[in-house]
Amino acid sequence: MKLLKHLIVVLFIWSCTSESSDGETTLPTDDDSMMVTNPLLDFTVPSNFPDATYSIAQNPPTEKGFELGKKLFYDGQLASDGVVSCGFCHIQSFAFTHHTHITSHGVDGQIGTRNAQPLHNLAFMNEFTWDGAATFLDTQPIIPITSDVEMNETVSNVISKLAADDEYPTLFAEAFGSEGVNADRLFKALSQFMVMMVSANSKFDKLERGEAVTFTDQENAGRAVFDTKCASCHAGSLQTDQSYRNNGLPMNPTFNDIGRERVTGLPSDHRKFKVPSLRNIEATFPYMHDGRLATLEDVLNFYTDGMVDSPTLDEQFRRPDGTFGLDITPEEKIQLIAFLKTLTDNDFIEDRRFAEF
Ligand code: HEC
Ligand code: HEC
Repeated sequence: MKLLKHLIVVLFIWSCTSESSDGETTLPTDDDSMMVTNPLLDFTVPSNFPDATYSIAQNPPTEKGFELGKKLFYDGQLASDGVVSCGFCHIQSFAFTHHTHITSHGVDGQIGTRNAQPLHNLAFMNEFTWDGAATFLDTQPIIPITSDVEMNETVSNVISKLAADDEYPTLFAEAFGSEGVNADRLFKALSQFMVMMVSANSKFDKLERGEAVTFTDQENAGRAVFDTKCASCHAGSLQTDQSYRNNGLPMNPTFNDIGRERVTGLPSDHRKFKVPSLRNIEATFPYMHDGRLATLEDVLNFYTDGMVDSPTLDEQFRRPDGTFGLDITPEEKIQLIAFLKTLTDNDFIEDRRFAEF
């Protein structure tokens, strides 16, 4: 492993072919060839996590690939207006979510229909977005780039802009070992950046790994309530079983979002959304796929008093007497919120490696 990490990519970057005034191109020379080292980054699966789903072997994050991915992530050139970067909607201090609007807003202030998801532990997810429309992390960014309410651009335009840029051709060559600015590399670099976003250092993780942390009585009590009433869906270290379910939210008449049915076409998937990870939940407000609930108190009040019935309501919310909802006492709600806050990973939220500046 050590050896691999120090893999040296030797690269010959010829002086850029420059156009002379009469339109002729000067031939490249190898006079100013240079050597670039590009060490592999250490992607480690935390000991309390399941195996990664992303194939690290097929796109191993390297120092230069990661830096390129980060620059792209924060670059407005990926959008038609030159402003709306990925980082515009995915802000690190909120675990890479967006807050100025309930649902995200993109170019020309266009309002989307969904609440921006946090970006963390993506290397461990099977599918992406609230309805699982993206099945591969490398192709997920095509959705925001081309969506007219997000970046409203085409991938080929983005590539033309980057290829004509002063810096990107060199950065692409350094990251991938040969010249060429293309879509495959654009998405691989973005994935290298996102795959490294591992959040595994909350108090909850440390307790799971048996490290020296102690939960307060309230946090412990909250954990016990969580294990009986929430963990069937918000399961395991990732805090999601990655299934799609209807948790009883009333249909939002503005968006009429049918959820997973949009992807599968199955009526049985009507109004089902991916069970979100609750990691960093304290930072990712507002809540639910359309950001309709402002606080964690609102979420718990919804689970006890706000659900509506429908044919696809998850069976776990049905009581034997035909009524539905979760039974959580006011005291348990306070305990649950104390527990949910142990899922905050400040090391991740403040990690300079992922910061724009
Ligand atoms: C206009 C705001 C906006 C921009 C710009 C944006 N996103 Fe997102 N992102 C969202 C929203 C909203 C969702 C949820 C989409 C859905 O469920 O349909 C999302 C979801 C995602 C997900 C899925 C996360 C998961 O857990 O499944 C990834 C990955 C992602 N975005 C990466 C990116 C990248 C990379 C870029 C830049 C190329 C980008 N986003 C640009 C708003 C945005
Ligand atoms: C039957 C599965 C299920 C159970 C049980 C469940 N949830 Fe959820 N939860 C979901 C789904 C699905 C969503 C997303 C719904 C949506 O946005 O349409 C969700 C959303 C949330 C959100 C919002 C997350 C975000 O990123 O916006 C929070 C917070 C939450 N649940 C907490 C809890 C707590 C606390 C409990 C236990 C008291 C619980 N849930 C029980 C399935 C479940």
